[in-house]
Amino acid sequence: MTDHQQDPLYLQAIAEIAAVADINTLNEVKARYVGRSGVFYKRLREIGNLPKEQRAEAGAMTNAIRLAIEQLLNDKKDALTASDTLVRLAKENIDVTLPGRTGGGGAVHPLQQTIQRAVAILSTCGFAVAEGPEIESDYYNFTALNQPPEHPARSMQDTFYFADGSLLRTHTSPVQIRYMENNKDNLPIRAVSPGRVYRRDHDSTHSPMFHQIEGLWIDEQVTFADLKGVLAHFFRAFFADDSIVVRFRPSFFPFTEPSAECDIRRGDNGKWLEVGGCGMVHPSVLSAGGIDSSRYQGFAFGMGIERLAMLYYQISDIRSFFENDIRFLAQFKQ
Ligand code: PHE
Repeated sequence: MTDHQQDPLYLQAIAEIAAVADINTLNEVKARYVGRSGVFYKRLREIGNLPKEQRAEAGAMTNAIRLAIEQLLNDKKDALTASDTLVRLAKENIDVTLPGRTGGGGAVHPLQQTIQRAVAILSTCGFAVAEGPEIESDYYNFTALNQPPEHPARSMQDTFYFADGSLLRTHTSPVQIRYMENNKDNLPIRAVSPGRVYRRDHDSTHSPMFHQIEGLWIDEQVTFADLKGVLAHFFRAFFADDSIVVRFRPSFFPFTEPSAECDIRRGDNGKWLEVGGCGMVHPSVLSAGGIDSSRYQGFAFGMGIERLAMLYYQISDIRSFFENDIRFLAQFKQ
């Protein structure tokens, strides 16, 4: 043991440095002992006051203590830095074996799922999918469907018109005409056309933009009974319920004759629900499509996709489909 190790200043410094727990306190202790106005400089200055023969020894002793304390300070600094690094490493630790966070995945909108379901069923009955434009001419939307200008039935389907006279189609029926024109030499015809349609309507069961699915079957012998049979099969398959019965109520559409509203009922004591319009294609509509109405006949039907989806999923407000509330949509993720 050398002398400086018993110096009270040295012993005090050891105790203080041992108690330090962070770099800031250590710097403060360092300044107090070995800084410019620290105790050692004071002590070195006092050496000048000692008798000459004692100065050399006192100076050597003081320097030895200072070096020892500086060594202690440096060791402590290394230790604190090392433990700081350990703490940071522990905090910033990344578990590279964790499974990744996925993007949440998209899903098909319930209305598109309903369309896909309806189309799948009708495809198995031999209906091909046909589509038409949403911006339609007055001719295809009305005139060719036996509603010439000034026809009173036009007022039942008010829509959005463009300056050039074209309009947002009010139903999928114009696709009937377009499909007949393109396939008049390719009879018989069996087509199903799903798509968006537009009307001036807005409440809890009507949206200004909605979807329909249209069916068309033209051949030499297609009858009203076939119409009812196809619809009964469709609804039983769609709702996966063989107890469903179909009822036709006399109605009017300019493009079908006779025309009917189609209602369905589940089981014996369920409520009758209106699900679509239908009828035998009017001879003028066949002619507009370029088909010989003295030889061919057939049926057409149109249904609201939102209506089907609301019944299928038991949804009471049509607006839920268009609000894009993720909590609503997530329920239909498959
Ligand atoms: N287009 C009619 C509507 O939107 C529905 C319909 C289609 C009726 C085909 C008969 C035949 O109301």
